[in-house]
Amino acid sequence: MTTPAGELLAGEIRRNGPVSFRRFMEVALYHAEHGYYRRAQRAPSDPFGKHGDFFTAEQIQPVFGILMAARIRQLYREMGEPREFTVVELGAGRREMAEAFSEWRYIPVDLDSGRLPEKFRGVVFSNEFFDALPVEVAVYRDGAFLEQRVAFEDGRFRWQTGGAVHEEVEQYLRRWFPPPEEGRWYEANLEALGWMERIGRALESGYALTVDYGYTRAESVRFPAGTLMGYRRHMAREDVLEDPGERDITAHVNFTALEECGAACGLRRERFETLARTIVTVGEGDQFAAALNSAPAEELRRRMQLKTLLFGMGETYRVLLQRRERAGEPGEKSLK
Ligand SMILES: C[S@@+](CC[C@H](N)C(=O)[O-])C[C@H]1O[C@@H](n2cnc3c(N)ncnc32)[C@H](O)[C@@H]1O
Repeated sequence: MTTPAGELLAGEIRRNGPVSFRRFMEVALYHAEHGYYRRAQRAPSDPFGKHGDFFTAEQIQPVFGILMAARIRQLYREMGEPREFTVVELGAGRREMAEAFSEWRYIPVDLDSGRLPEKFRGVVFSNEFFDALPVEVAVYRDGAFLEQRVAFEDGRFRWQTGGAVHEEVEQYLRRWFPPPEEGRWYEANLEALGWMERIGRALESGYALTVDYGYTRAESVRFPAGTLMGYRRHMAREDVLEDPGERDITAHVNFTALEECGAACGLRRERFETLARTIVTVGEGDQFAAALNSAPAEELRRRMQLKTLLFGMGETYRVLLQRRERAGEPGEKSLK
């Protein structure tokens, strides 16, 4: 017995053989009817809450929104307070940032709503967007990156090692990981590169402000089994194949890939730091008064949220700030 999304995948596998993990993740999370995030928009059993098995909106809002808005206000000032200023949020989900970002023209982008404008000035914000994009999975064996595909046997999804990965995946893995090691698992997030390119094209001036779970090239050595996680955020790559459509799946973000791909698209890294560092930077000016100031009962709740942000998420989530190079500045070059 599997789930409705599982039935679809099993049918596809019966017809055409094992599927790529990217395809598995795409159906499991985003199938129009049975994908986890599509069901999130309908089901009363709130998968968005579940996603946060770790940190739910309840635990971090409104303080997270207030602090991120304060960061964006700093960026707005650094840009000289332009008259035209738009905040685009990628993967806006339930639009929990809408109120915090209401002082600007705000465009929430998600699967069926909102679009990255063709040209604009402002900030592209995202929180846990890149880690939800479908990834390719590979294992390094006998001198080659081999594709880890998903098969269906005896009523269960199982990993199956296929042939050499696609050239684009190979390039990604050679470029943004240290020299490969026998037996290690790797993930390639080609969709993330596509989004960086789109942001680079669309942003005339301004910043990309990305908050996510992830690692740099050098830090990736800590994850010999890759970083796929089921919604309970256990490091169990088998779990991610269970109950497709009923659990979240994430892959940590390779920030070196975002940074270097961004640089090739005219987005220069300004800062890369922990979320705790960003929060302290925006909050220290007024001792967090703007975030905490409220009725006494509410203030206590907000203090707890700030604590969660600083000590719970703060050290594991990273913030990448990239600035759109102005015309004439060095920056854009081909990745090829
Ligand atoms: C992990 S959720 C994060 C939601 C929200 N930012 C938060 O922090 O709670 C990832 C979001 O990205 C959206 N998403 C995934 N792929 C997308 C795509 N190609 N275009 C737009 N949104 C996408 C999902 O629908 C989902 O709402």
